[in-house]
Amino acid sequence: MPMENKVLYTLQKEHDFAKNIAALLFSVVKKLREKKSISLLNLKDLVNAISPVMEAHHRKEMEVFAYLTSEEEITKDNLLDILREEHNLGYEYFSNALRIIDHENKGSTEKYELVPFHIEEYAKLLEKHIQKEEEGFFPMIKKYIGENEQAELLPAFERIEKEFKNGKNASIIKEAVKSIR
Ligand SMILES: [Fe+2]
Ligand SMILES: [Fe+2]
Repeated sequence: MPMENKVLYTLQKEHDFAKNIAALLFSVVKKLREKKSISLLNLKDLVNAISPVMEAHHRKEMEVFAYLTSEEEITKDNLLDILREEHNLGYEYFSNALRIIDHENKGSTEKYELVPFHIEEYAKLLEKHIQKEEEGFFPMIKKYIGENEQAELLPAFERIEKEFKNGKNASIIKEAVKSIR
């Protein structure tokens, strides 16, 4: 990974963190299916921490997409459209899981087994999506996002960081990663 492209470096670092998130969620799913010690409220906190961390990452990627939409190489196989759709699908899995968790907390027991289902689908999607981006999207950044583009994108990344204030969420996730090992 060349360090000189800071846009690429930032997104790659976030992917490394997202790979830990996927692994964490697979463990959570396993525990939920074994009916082990993950309370729904903790699970809700975890999902509520992961969601904005991933959203901030997606927002940065969308900023980069905007610089790539005119490149013929990219538009011909609709890669960016697919990646955008996958971001939206991810939010859907998470909001479905949260909706069921909320019902459960109110005393309804319906469809509880769907919580691990939605979380597992999200984790699977996340892993595939990361691979797709590292194979298809990251090489485009290397090729088309030069110094001028980086000079515009990096302040946009900082604005997104400020808007999301994900410091606390990242700690919650790191703690969960540690505790589940
Ligand atoms: Fe993405
Ligand atoms: Fe990504």
